[in-house]
Amino acid sequence: MSFEDVAAKRRSVREFSDERLSEKELLKILFAAQGITEPGTGHRSVPSAGATYPLEVYLVNADGVLHYDPSSNSLKEVVQGDLRADLSEAALGQSVVRNAPASVVITGFATRTTQKYGERGRRYVYMEAGHAAQNVLLQAVSLGLAGVPIGAFDDREVEGILGCGSGEKALYILPVGRPVQ
Ligand SMILES: Cc1cc2nc3c(=O)[nH]c(=O)nc-3n(C[C@H](O)[C@H](O)[C@H](O)COP(=O)(O)O)c2cc1C
Repeated sequence: MSFEDVAAKRRSVREFSDERLSEKELLKILFAAQGITEPGTGHRSVPSAGATYPLEVYLVNADGVLHYDPSSNSLKEVVQGDLRADLSEAALGQSVVRNAPASVVITGFATRTTQKYGERGRRYVYMEAGHAAQNVLLQAVSLGLAGVPIGAFDDREVEGILGCGSGEKALYILPVGRPVQ
């Protein structure tokens, strides 16, 4: 698909079939969010202010919570068990979060960027989350899938579900799946 076709086809979709996404599909979506495209420098699929890479990416699906490791382009389980209903509650009960086969969740460590740019670095982290989220949504379309950006959620509840450490803030939830025909 050309970029124009992908961009034209992208719409926020909030109903998906129950079918799980394959590991290959999921890794392509996560690679779009934060994958390393230039192993020599470690530069990634999204730009980053001063290449400070403040973002972390998780997947919440029927298996549990998985963390994406850009250096190996792989997923590592951090919490076992289906927490999609809990994530939906944290997102003010939005049913798409409960029913989507998977949600990508983007978090950020602002200090990675504020160490270099001071307070202005906080703004850069939000900008970068937008870059990563758009890549996720466009990659979903190019794979015949769909998604929706979710900004309405309780930050602390989401951080608790993911098991975020100190200084790691929840930024964006992106449920993805196969659109209902
Ligand atoms: C920052 C941001 C937060 C959003 N939060 C939500 C949300 O919490 N729930 C939801 O259903 N849609 C959410 N949306 C999706 C918008 O409703 C949607 O993008 C808008 O209606 C335009 O439709 P389109 O995406 O199909 O072009 C959000 C979009 C953005 C950019």
